Amino acid sequence: MLFVTRRAVFSAAHRLYNPELTDEENEAIFDKCNSYNGHGHNYVLEVVVAGEVNPKTGYVIDLKKLKKIIRENVIKKVDHKHLNLDVDFLKGIIPSAENIAIGIWNQLIDKIDEGKLFSVKLYETENNYVEYRGDK
Ligand code: NI
Repeated sequence: MLFVTRRAVFSAAHRLYNPELTDEENEAIFDKCNSYNGHGHNYVLEVVVAGEVNPKTGYVIDLKKLKKIIRENVIKKVDHKHLNLDVDFLKGIIPSAENIAIGIWNQLIDKIDEGKLFSVKLYETENNYVEYRGDK
């Protein structure tokens, strides 16, 4: 089994708050991430595809193709957007790194037809990242 990774970056704004909680509860949980008009991050996304090497191509998945899948299904939808307001696949959820990673996974899972989507890793800052490997 081989693991092939494509990295992509995007910049986006978000605000962390739960509309079902009071202002005080939101403040206590999300602190400055709850600031009313949001704040931005330069996100780094790593998409890992696992599989066997195709003897015909020598590839698990053609990285040019993976780049295009990520661009069309994720980056175009999130780059320079407000994640609470502008992104169809994040509507109605708290756009934490965790939930964004799950949303990105769901965007990609049916699009990858060589190898198998193995993980979505999302860095929100240099030191904080989450990794999602599906619900199994
Ligand atoms: Ni944030």
